Amino acid sequence: MIKHPARRSIAYLTHLTQRQPVLLTGRAAAGIWCVLRAWDFHDRVILIPANTCYIVLWAVLKSGNIPLLVDVDRHTGNITTDQLNAHLTSNPAAVIPCHMYGLPAPIDSICQWAHSHNIKVIEDAALALGATVDERPAGSWGDASIFSFGLGKIADNQVGGALLTDDPLLAQEANRLLAEAPLWDDHLMALTNQWNGLYWSLHQYESQNPRLLDLYPQLFNLYGDLTVYQLPADDWADLPALLRDLPQNLAHRTHLASLYDSQLGIANLTEDSPFLPPLAQPAGSILWRYPLLVQPELRDDLLAHLWENGIHDATRWYPPLRPMTTTLAPQVTQPDTPNANLLGASIINLPLDDNTDENDVRRIAKFIHNFLSTV
Ligand SMILES: Cc1ncc(COP(=O)(O)O)c(C=O)c1O
Repeated sequence: MIKHPARRSIAYLTHLTQRQPVLLTGRAAAGIWCVLRAWDFHDRVILIPANTCYIVLWAVLKSGNIPLLVDVDRHTGNITTDQLNAHLTSNPAAVIPCHMYGLPAPIDSICQWAHSHNIKVIEDAALALGATVDERPAGSWGDASIFSFGLGKIADNQVGGALLTDDPLLAQEANRLLAEAPLWDDHLMALTNQWNGLYWSLHQYESQNPRLLDLYPQLFNLYGDLTVYQLPADDWADLPALLRDLPQNLAHRTHLASLYDSQLGIANLTEDSPFLPPLAQPAGSILWRYPLLVQPELRDDLLAHLWENGIHDATRWYPPLRPMTTTLAPQVTQPDTPNANLLGASIINLPLDDNTDENDVRRIAKFIHNFLSTV
């Protein structure tokens, strides 16, 4: 008998992480939402990294809880227990550490810290499928953990996510909540496309024109529903093959990343280099995209130069979350997040996916050098 694609995907993820049960979700954000609901948290503080994707913030808000930003380590892009300690007084119910860009967070110490303070952990491995931390798979650490298979992710199924836990009661309640979510359909797809277009513009200009931030509460009302949905069975059809190809997929990314390194001279940066030292890549890292850190005063012009030359998948993901969080959760004062701000102002994420080959990397590096020779 041929197994249904959803069941094959679950079997793969169970094998990868040694976790059970694995639930497939419409998107990873739906997993965050339903776990916070299943734990019955209301109006509780949930700690999230200050440089994560805005949809994590939306999932926390949709669950009826209060996001509080945690600044990240400047050299790793990830939160640490030192940063978390500063927020104990807010009496958080949960923390959502992320393996940012596929680079492992110190998840073992974060889990120990959290559990010693009776705080739950949702491990965000949305960008870290196939990464390991201390030789144990990303996605196997949190009280609950999430993967994403959405557009542009490592295993890009266009839509979809997974929720992993070892707690059958949590899974049962999460399953019940997810079954009530709307089905992904043309309407939700249209909403998603509209919102992506708007957000792409807004986050470029929000630091130049802070009044744009006033729009976020209204936009969250209009588009917040795209945070939680479930997928029709047919939408899982391609996932098993994507998962089966994961080793080659990751090897391709590693190969292209080392080509970017050599083409851009990242190993030999000097004091006056236009690039900042790269984020640390601990053992077990995988690369979602190539996170190039550029002097902030050059970043936007360099990005514009790449776009003018047709490199549209060079992005400033992820912008600092503080501006949006401040307007969507005005009831708490968000801390300053200087490290996340610096990373957000200096990052250009370059493509590594299977539509990108060695010639593309050489061409992108050439455009970067051309631009730098003019400044
Ligand atoms: C760091 C991070 N966490 C969570 C998510 C949520 O994934 P999804 O789009 O499947 O909801 C994303 C996706 O954009 C992400 O980049």
